[in-house]
Amino acid sequence: MPIPAEFMETLSKRRAKGLAGGGAQKEVDRNKKGLLTARQRIGAFFDPGTFMEFGLFVQHHCQDFGMSGKDIPCDGVITGVGHVAGHPVAAFAQDFTVAGGSLGKMHAQKIVDLMDYALKTGIPVVGVNDSGGARIQEGIDSLSGYGAVFYGNVLLSGVVPQIAIIAGPCAGGGAYSPALMDFLIMTKAANMFICGPEVIKAVTGQTVTMDEIGSAAAHASISGNIHFVAEDDRHAIQISHRLLSFLPANNLSDPPHHLNVPLDTAVDPGMDALVPENPKDPIDAHEVIRRLVDGGEYLEVQADWARNIITCYARVCGVVVGIVSSNPMVKAGSLDIDSSDKSARFIRTCNVYNTPLISLVDVPGFLPGKQQEQGGIIRHGAKMLFAWSSATVPKITVIMRKAYGGAYLAMCSKSMGADLVFAWPSAEIAVMGADGAINILFREEIKKADDPKARAKALAAEYRDQFAAPWQAAENNMVTDVIEPSRTRALVALALRNTLNKREIRPGKKHGNIAL
Ligand code: HXC
Repeated sequence: MPIPAEFMETLSKRRAKGLAGGGAQKEVDRNKKGLLTARQRIGAFFDPGTFMEFGLFVQHHCQDFGMSGKDIPCDGVITGVGHVAGHPVAAFAQDFTVAGGSLGKMHAQKIVDLMDYALKTGIPVVGVNDSGGARIQEGIDSLSGYGAVFYGNVLLSGVVPQIAIIAGPCAGGGAYSPALMDFLIMTKAANMFICGPEVIKAVTGQTVTMDEIGSAAAHASISGNIHFVAEDDRHAIQISHRLLSFLPANNLSDPPHHLNVPLDTAVDPGMDALVPENPKDPIDAHEVIRRLVDGGEYLEVQADWARNIITCYARVCGVVVGIVSSNPMVKAGSLDIDSSDKSARFIRTCNVYNTPLISLVDVPGFLPGKQQEQGGIIRHGAKMLFAWSSATVPKITVIMRKAYGGAYLAMCSKSMGADLVFAWPSAEIAVMGADGAINILFREEIKKADDPKARAKALAAEYRDQFAAPWQAAENNMVTDVIEPSRTRALVALALRNTLNKREIRPGKKHGNIAL
């Protein structure tokens, strides 16, 4: 007996209703604006034919404020699991075309169910956020819905990677779920804020624009709230795919290394040319990274914020690595509040997802200044020290030039747990720069000298000879080897293969107490 035809008709009608979202006209309107609908986003995200939807027929149960009997397909969020490059990933996409993608009780429950599934099965979660925030008609049910989503984000944190795409309004509570995830990708059409310009004006009298406080550009370069800016929806999806290509499915798996790639131990003379003759000229760290990694390709994370440090993913002879590099082109590569936060966060993300770390060092110190001291550079710098010291993944440090004082430690010296440290002959490993040091050590002598300038110059040269070189550190076993820059890629590649099986057992505890 075949299944009765009316059952099949009901199924197909109900399915069509669920799939329709806000309807054909809204789809056309959005597409005209260059925006995809939630269902188009899901379609573009997953490998064709692999999406398995959860809860297509879910509806809200609200009876208040004209909601009784109102149809909100999928309760405003599409959820399910599909494949990305053949690997299962859980994803949700809020549907702005129905009730503004607002989050009610069932909408929240669908997201939480999806996260539970991802947790049990150890697969990443990607969420496309496009919502007016808590559904006003559902009152505290929506608030507690957000609570459940936040709780879920925290439960998953450090177990499976979580990526948020901000592709529309992301107001109020809506902003905090992305903020609890590992990576935020934001399109240029989106905005994200806690209090919008009207609220700010009403409460503080200040006039601000959405561009200043809520745009992708503002979050990428000023607040540091997001990691990537996307031109549009499709670009955001491409970035999420690229990111996933460096991440393991969960914390018990290795990242997708390509260990069949043969070791390349050839020297690269081009690297030698990257140390400028004049010590005042900065090293181009982006170029160093380009030469170090496979195919010169890397994915920079938070490229527009705290640019005095570079954080990126790449592969070296097939091994996935996270690179933290000084960027001497910006603020001379010194460490400040924002760059400490940026690197500490990245180091911890790499550690939690078993990604070996490489530190490239050319750092003159922590940035001096009243703003830095009053802003808590001690607390923020401590995050970096904490992050390196607590990371148990392979840690390989390359000292290119300056490695001064606390900043030398904050870039992962041997004493901070680096497994292998390579120094270029241009390395200057010292408590501080020569000029600063001699002014403290020989202040009186310089003052009394017949020619104070000449005396200071001679003393600085003497100091530099003794300390501003890798040799004292090498003699004291603080570096593994002093190497020609041209051998860096070969040695880092070897070091990664040799250290990949590193296991480090730490004392059991709930968690360390990082300075926040
Ligand atoms: C219910 C909502 C809604 C909401 C939008 N809509 N936001 N419905 N609850 N929060 C509905 C609108 O009524 C409208 O329905 C449709 O979505 C589209 O909204 P428009 O306003 O027409 O769109 P647009 O002009 O593009 O403006 C989008 C917007 C605006 C900027 C997001 O809608 C807005 O400001 N919404 C409120 C944002 C907000 O303050 N949310 C609450 C945050 S508090 P129709 O039927 O006309 O199509 C919060 C607390 C959680 O989230 C805290 C947890 C820590």
